[in-house]
Amino acid sequence: MHILVMILLSVHALAGVFWAGSTLALTHSYFEVTPKLFRAQMGAAAIAVVAGLALWGIVIRGAQDPMAHTLALGAALAVIAAAVQGAMRRTPVRAQRIAAVLLSGTVVCMVIAPYVT
Ligand code: HEM
Repeated sequence: MHILVMILLSVHALAGVFWAGSTLALTHSYFEVTPKLFRAQMGAAAIAVVAGLALWGIVIRGAQDPMAHTLALGAALAVIAAAVQGAMRRTPVRAQRIAAVLLSGTVVCMVIAPYVT
């Protein structure tokens, strides 16, 4: 089980890093550039969410503690970010800017979650 968690966590973090990192970088791009990465970003988002849900099922399960609540907040922000990127395709740079704020919140929640008491 430890090996599975390590693999899922690695896949989860790598996909999340690409999704959040490209979103942050694209806040400084142009209208023509941003859509070129849309499919890759949504692919990474899907992998991050699926691996995150699998980790939730294995590691968190029914826990109702501050760590679980912090992870849940981060996950909710990520889902909203994906919805914004999907819905605001006519104004892609603005979509990236809104998603960048949301995904920054996700990353902070994910990394501080084990230390929240
Ligand atoms: C629906 C979306 C998401 C869910 C359900 C989710 C779920 C989780 C869970 C349950 C863990 C804890 C794993 C463990 O303690 O072994 C975790 C850790 C982590 N997540 Fe997510 N996550 C989501 C989205 C994201 C995104 C979008 C990113 C990055 C942008 C991200 C980055 C991380 C990182 C870096 C960790 C490791 C934190 C650490 O152990 O220090 N997650 N996630």
